[in-house]
Amino acid sequence: MTISADKLTTQLGWRYAVKRFDASRKISAEIWQALERSLILTPSSYGLQPWQFAVITNEEVKKKLPAISWGQQQPLDCSHMVVLAARRTMDAEYVERYMSSVTETRNLAADAMDGYRRVLVSTVEKMDSHLDWNARQVYIALGQLMVAAAMLNVDTCPMEGIDAQAYDQLLGFHGSDYTTVVGCAVGYRHPEDAQAQAVKVRFSADELVRRF
Ligand SMILES: Cc1cc2nc3c(=O)[nH]c(=O)nc-3n(C[C@H](O)[C@H](O)[C@H](O)COP(=O)(O)O)c2cc1C
Repeated sequence: MTISADKLTTQLGWRYAVKRFDASRKISAEIWQALERSLILTPSSYGLQPWQFAVITNEEVKKKLPAISWGQQQPLDCSHMVVLAARRTMDAEYVERYMSSVTETRNLAADAMDGYRRVLVSTVEKMDSHLDWNARQVYIALGQLMVAAAMLNVDTCPMEGIDAQAYDQLLGFHGSDYTTVVGCAVGYRHPEDAQAQAVKVRFSADELVRRF
């Protein structure tokens, strides 16, 4: 089943960056499972999935978040605070692990991907900043999560206003292969969140879209 074009536009217009979540409303297990799946199903360059996602629902942990989020309350009041982390590096070993997962999942001969593997290893070895590349992939996951949530009438607030180093410390990313890039508070808007009434501000399609 597909949804109508109208419905898509309505839901994307319904979504806004929530400033005040309703702390009393939690996302059901069924809905959360679908949203988590939207993160896992995010496409990435070559399929490398250079990310990890931390999901915070524990109230004791959430209480620590405003202090490391520029004082913003959304990470505390939302239902699920998602922290999207990128791999700091990319190397032949990681590529190899991914290739093994491709051949196993698709039941291919172990050497079926050798040509692709060589191209990929050489691409990765030539790259200046793996973290920049990986972080760009992470933002695709952020976008996919926000759109998926909106389709299910679940609210979000994408959050760069977080202290990435402090999140790394809190979540155990410090000293690991991954580092915090961006957050996304997920839950339900408070009925009194004034931001819900704010008219969307976007440049016109004429300015933003070039047609050929
Ligand atoms: C990557 C990114 C980081 C953002 N960081 C924050 C943030 O830390 N706090 C916040 O309240 N809004 C944040 N926003 C929300 C934007 O200000 C908002 O998306 C933009 O003004 C457009 O408004 P809308 O999302 O309500 O349509 C962020 C948005 C994006 C895409």
